Amino acid sequence: MKDALKTVKYPGFTRDIVSFGLVKSIQTESGDIKVQLAIATNDPNVPATIKTDAERALRNIEGVRSAKVLIDIQAPPGGTGAGTVAMRIPGVRHVLAVASGKGGVGKSTIAANLAVALEQTGARVGLCDCDIYGPSISLMFGTRERPTATDDNMIVPIEQYGLRLMSMGFLLDDASPAILRGPMVTRYTQQFLRQVEWGELDYLVLDLPPGTGDIQLTIVQTVALSGAIIVTTPQEVALIDARKAATMFEKVNVPVIGLVENMSYFVSPSDNKRYDIFGTGGGEREAKRLRVPLLGQIPIDIPTREGGDRGIPIVSEDRRSPVSAEFKRIAEGIRKTLQ
Ligand SMILES: Nc1ncnc2c1ncn2[C@@H]1O[C@H](COP(=O)(O)OP(=O)(O)OP(=O)(O)O)[C@@H](O)[C@H]1O
Ligand SMILES: [Mg+2]
Repeated sequence: MKDALKTVKYPGFTRDIVSFGLVKSIQTESGDIKVQLAIATNDPNVPATIKTDAERALRNIEGVRSAKVLIDIQAPPGGTGAGTVAMRIPGVRHVLAVASGKGGVGKSTIAANLAVALEQTGARVGLCDCDIYGPSISLMFGTRERPTATDDNMIVPIEQYGLRLMSMGFLLDDASPAILRGPMVTRYTQQFLRQVEWGELDYLVLDLPPGTGDIQLTIVQTVALSGAIIVTTPQEVALIDARKAATMFEKVNVPVIGLVENMSYFVSPSDNKRYDIFGTGGGEREAKRLRVPLLGQIPIDIPTREGGDRGIPIVSEDRRSPVSAEFKRIAEGIRKTLQ
């Protein structure tokens, strides 16, 4: 039964409804099947498509007389943006959020290099730094250029290394984040996300601030996301927060595309020996637990850190480095998941 349901894809994804965790119960009684699903969505086409596809798949099983799929549709939780519906950004095919729960695990490093790797597959890519308290994308891309505004007050992103970049930090002077608090942060974030003129993009990567609080919730509810990528280190403390981030996305019905394990190991340049500084296997275990793929493992790497500090992501600077190859693999994994 489950195998038949596994052939049913979530609309717009290559992942199936079983691995997304939508199946709540399956009852069978002499050839009559009843399946209960639960989906949180504002889009009426999603449950309708899934119902049709799932009933068809179940009826095709030998010996099945009737199949009924019942769907419990919940509205995504209101939270801070109560009543508002996540907005599709015109011209942008997929918006991806890079999140972690725990701070300092390398979200910005992963977001920056992943954006470059996606661009190198031939896609049009934008990258948006959503951290108003500690914007880092402008540093990682070595630009202090200020964006301009169009006549109708839309902000035009900056172009660097073939990407379109935007950072909340571009618009604030160094002192102003300190005075943005509570509801003002929410308003500023929403306004910011709606006012950037991205143009035509295949992927827009959002680099989220650390944590799973109000700001993160505001972001994931303001923009319609195709999916989330969760960054973790192999350590238990990071994995616990990765789990929290995954739960946050589940609540607002944003699928987790996969996990990226950062700082997975270190290969000493002097003796080529591998050291598992933060332990090993954590990312893989957590990915299994969350039933999402482990998209890749990035080692602790000196050129990667240097590239970030110098303002040129390693994937852009040295396409042939092992780290760049791993980012390419991650980018391809994401492209395969999103149609
Ligand atoms: N794989 C890596 N190898 C070496 N250094 C790394 C690696 N990943 C990240 N770093 C370094 O670790 C520091 C923190 O990384 P980064 O800023 O990307 O983390 P973050 O999760 O975005 O942090 P925050 O939670 O503050 O937003 C940076 O100095 C970065 O250069
Ligand atoms: Mg960051």
